[in-house]
Amino acid sequence: MKAIVLGAAAGGGFPQWNCQCQVCALAWSRDSRAPWRTQSSLAVTLDGESWAVLNASPDLGSQIRATQALWPHRARHSPIGTVILSSAEIDHVAGLLSLRERHPFDLIALAPVLEALDANPMLGAVPARRVTATASAPVTLADGLTAELFPVPGKAPLYLEGDDPQLGSEAGETAGIRISGRGRSIVYIPGCAALSASVRAQADGADVLFFDGTLFTDDEMIRAGLGEKTGRRMGHLPITGPGGSLPWLAGLPTARKIYIHLNNTNPALIEGSPERLMIEASGVEVAYDGMEVEL
Ligand code: MLT
Ligand code: MN
Ligand code: ZN
Repeated sequence: MKAIVLGAAAGGGFPQWNCQCQVCALAWSRDSRAPWRTQSSLAVTLDGESWAVLNASPDLGSQIRATQALWPHRARHSPIGTVILSSAEIDHVAGLLSLRERHPFDLIALAPVLEALDANPMLGAVPARRVTATASAPVTLADGLTAELFPVPGKAPLYLEGDDPQLGSEAGETAGIRISGRGRSIVYIPGCAALSASVRAQADGADVLFFDGTLFTDDEMIRAGLGEKTGRRMGHLPITGPGGSLPWLAGLPTARKIYIHLNNTNPALIEGSPERLMIEASGVEVAYDGMEVEL
């Protein structure tokens, strides 16, 4: 099995189009320590021919152009056979609008995510066969991989959450995705509000884990004067601080543990920063666009 990171950043990408925070400023200056990153997505294959794309980011068109394995082989062809969604957040679904040129593919998600798409008539232009996944029931993909979606603590997408969202809900608005083949598995959890028993169990059984690396500290956006919300309020467990994900990841037996979906304020985006070094010293990696993982 092979996975390619199509995009390693959270919503907004890195640098974010309207931001000159300290971390974005380094990226805008094209400093080699802060390579640009597009919005979170993974491509996975077993045979190298047929690919599943995990989350359709708004950058999907440029991500396909940057990834030769996803180029068409002939007129009106694409190696992309399946798109699997972990949530209906805009940074995970807007790329579907770039896949509307009559190429049939399967679109797999839990029911609450497909319901959110169905409520938007614009997404009706996407010619995908919608497959409602049942939580934790494996779905077989074209090349023999299986995909399993499992609810993780999260919340409704930002544009549907209303004034008083239920935080930490495990109703399937937010999912993790396990891709398995030939006895190996990759687990991808780009958004996670808490380390529930099922998140821990899924991570324990993975060979490679891509995990929510949105914020380094819960109040990072507030301290930078960029917003009023903590990471937890946004449905993202921070990397450090009370209950942060890093000590847990450090102790996991999983062969490779990789942060993905990093927000542009996260200083771990900068190679050699104290925050990045702390993560690396714990045996955890930080994803970058084009990163390849073979297992
Ligand atoms: C998130 O990960 O919290 C969402 O992508 C928020 C957003 O859509 O801006
Ligand atoms: Mn997001
Ligand atoms: Zn920024």
